[in-house]
Amino acid sequence: MVMKNRIWAMVAGIAWLLVNSGYVLAGAPNTDFAAVTNIKYAKECGACHLAYQPGLLPERSWRKVMENLHDHFGDNAELPTADQPVLLEYLVNNSAERANYKRSAQMLHSIRKVDTPVRISQVPYFIREHREVANRVRGNEKIKSLGQCELCHQKANEGSYAENEIRVLGAESWND
Ligand code: HEC
Ligand code: HEC
Repeated sequence: MVMKNRIWAMVAGIAWLLVNSGYVLAGAPNTDFAAVTNIKYAKECGACHLAYQPGLLPERSWRKVMENLHDHFGDNAELPTADQPVLLEYLVNNSAERANYKRSAQMLHSIRKVDTPVRISQVPYFIREHREVANRVRGNEKIKSLGQCELCHQKANEGSYAENEIRVLGAESWND
């Protein structure tokens, strides 16, 4: 009986680890991040750049971004007053903590608890994944920042960043 309990404890432990590291998913979606579903968000926050998937950043990061829209990376991105809380709520409800997606979990767990990045491109997991390409495109006029996901990820607007959908600067594929 004792033996049996130990085995169950082990199974539960392994399951917990898998869930926590983001490898087990409810519904096993075939994109990396939950696609944007809010039309107002897609319109307002997609006016100047890709409407970033809320699951790319933790809640605390979105709160910080939304509190500073008047001074948004050098731009004024202020919203009509009525839209502000609605979009914040959408971001919070779908932030990396709440999104049951593997890449959201990887982004989230790579950030130190004391940090609140306001750029996706400053998240440690992102930096690790883009180290090589960042070197390759340095100084390239067409790619001003790695925040322009859609320049390389053909299906970024669907939340899909799979390796076989990457095209960097007209190359056939990333590995060519
Ligand atoms: C008026 C244009 C404009 C609007 C509207 C706008 N942004 Fe931005 N956003 C920018 C600019 C400019 C940058 C910085 C680009 C750069 O330096 O890479 C940026 C960068 C960002 C980044 C960081 C990307 C990265 O990882 O480098 C996030 C996150 C972001 N915006 C979220 C939002 C959200 C959420 C909204 C809607 C509330 C929004 N933006 C609306 C202009 C805008
Ligand atoms: C200059 C081109 C470029 C830009 C811009 C870019 N990426 Fe990438 N991204 C890549 C390449 C290339 C890889 C593959 C890295 C490797 O495997 O060596 C990658 C990998 C990834 C991965 C891991 C995918 C996997 O299957 O391992 C994610 C997630 C990702 N990018 C998200 C983003 C997001 C979100 C943005 C915008 C905020 C972005 N990327 C901007 C080129 C880019």
